[in-house]
Amino acid sequence: MRRTYGSHLVHLGGTQKTRGWYSASPTVSPAYCTSLTTKLTYGDSVAGTLESHRAQQLTLPLERRQRHGRRGDSRDIKRETWVLTGEGKKYAAEGSPEVQLFLAVPAEGSISKDELQKKLDPAVFKIGCSQAGKNKWVEMGKQVSRKVQNVEDKVKDLLLQVQNGHALSKEEISSLKARKLIVPQTWKGYSVRKGPNYAPKRKKAATDLTRENLQKGDWKELEFKEYNFNAKGQPAEGGHLHPLLKVRKQLKDIFLQMGFEEMPTNNFVESSFWNFDALFQPQQHPARDSHDTFFLEEPSTTRELPEDYVERVKRVHESGGYGSRGYGYEWKREEANKNLLRTHTTAVSSRMLKALAEKPFAPKKYFSIDRVFRNEAVDRTHLAEFHQIEGLVCDRGLTLGDLIGVLHDFFSRLGMSKLRFKPAYNPYTEPSMEIFSYHEGFGKWVEVGNSGMFRPEMLLPMGLPEDVHVIAWGLSLERPTMILYGIDNIRDLFGHKVDLGLIKRNPICRLGIS
Ligand code: PHE
Repeated sequence: MRRTYGSHLVHLGGTQKTRGWYSASPTVSPAYCTSLTTKLTYGDSVAGTLESHRAQQLTLPLERRQRHGRRGDSRDIKRETWVLTGEGKKYAAEGSPEVQLFLAVPAEGSISKDELQKKLDPAVFKIGCSQAGKNKWVEMGKQVSRKVQNVEDKVKDLLLQVQNGHALSKEEISSLKARKLIVPQTWKGYSVRKGPNYAPKRKKAATDLTRENLQKGDWKELEFKEYNFNAKGQPAEGGHLHPLLKVRKQLKDIFLQMGFEEMPTNNFVESSFWNFDALFQPQQHPARDSHDTFFLEEPSTTRELPEDYVERVKRVHESGGYGSRGYGYEWKREEANKNLLRTHTTAVSSRMLKALAEKPFAPKKYFSIDRVFRNEAVDRTHLAEFHQIEGLVCDRGLTLGDLIGVLHDFFSRLGMSKLRFKPAYNPYTEPSMEIFSYHEGFGKWVEVGNSGMFRPEMLLPMGLPEDVHVIAWGLSLERPTMILYGIDNIRDLFGHKVDLGLIKRNPICRLGIS
């Protein structure tokens, strides 16, 4: 490999070719030009290798060359030349067989064929006879004699020309080729020359504009690396589901398999009216105290409520109706208007049931799983916010037996088939039941939820038909998740103290598989 700096020519095996792209004249191209040639035997198709770092940069694929602002341009060069075969070389040195034969024939008289044969190499004799005969140089018989005085060794001359790199005519080439005295040889090389952004020293392109660059002002001189939009990014290391999300998904699937529809729970802010009043929860109830509930300062009150329904709710609180005596207190609109962070998803259930009451009645099965907020002292089992799972069935003539049946169905799908119920109290359900399940691991009955049948004082002011009953239940998402994942402090599961490693490494724990 030969490299020439400052030369404008690319040398192809010594051929001084001055035509074509690689022959830019020295005045036009004061070029940094590298001539790289590799001698290859004919038939070989491998291109010469570029070893120099610079050369590699110069021969970058087009796309990259463009990105680098074309420091250099390169081109492959392929040329066919002719070289002598072994036989050709021999004749170039010793003369062609026909001339050797001619010279062996005496200038005067003749020589017997046998004698002539002895004087020459067998191959030279054989070829010489036929070529000299064809050229009409000699008379061939038993005796051989010259027919001309002098001969010219045209073949030897042509072979020497080929050896010296001179071009021959087509006919000359084909005659030598036919006699297998020459063969084609392929030359491959590269031609490299300066591109518009050529620089003798490689400048490292800046990949970032830094604070220092801006302070020093050297950003003006910097050459910035262009973005490579085809580069593949780091594989994203994300998409880990929090245990609560995994359990929520399973619960959602269970509800869907049971034919329940999901309620829209996308409002954390609710009015006291829908969270409490609509649920027949009296305004003096301790849960409605700021010690238990987060009230909003801004906006502190709701903008609108369905007025005729508000009127019916007020009446049922104050004096009852629908077979009820009511609470017998003076119901205050200001209390109902107060905005709060919903304390239970039953607020959403009340909105849904009211919407249902406005249409011709159709039975429904609804569920939701979303966040609720309570102003509670935080300890290992309580947070000020948690997720509530809620299910309800609304149909004509439902009874407590239906509630118990649905609860057995639902909880057995969670892997809790042993259930017990304990009478309880909720302002909005009658009867109400706490749900207990026997936990094999703990060896005891644990409370798993709360349930009941919505009171007529809640359903009838909405306008639902009298024989429509609603059975409902609620439980927290955190409780079963903690049991399933063996977490005993809720703060390890939810909130700012959670170890992110828990989210990345938590196993798949399936509800209902023990
Ligand atoms: N809202 C109740 C709670 O917060 C749960 C519940 C829902 C109870 C539906 C009965 C019926 O605990």
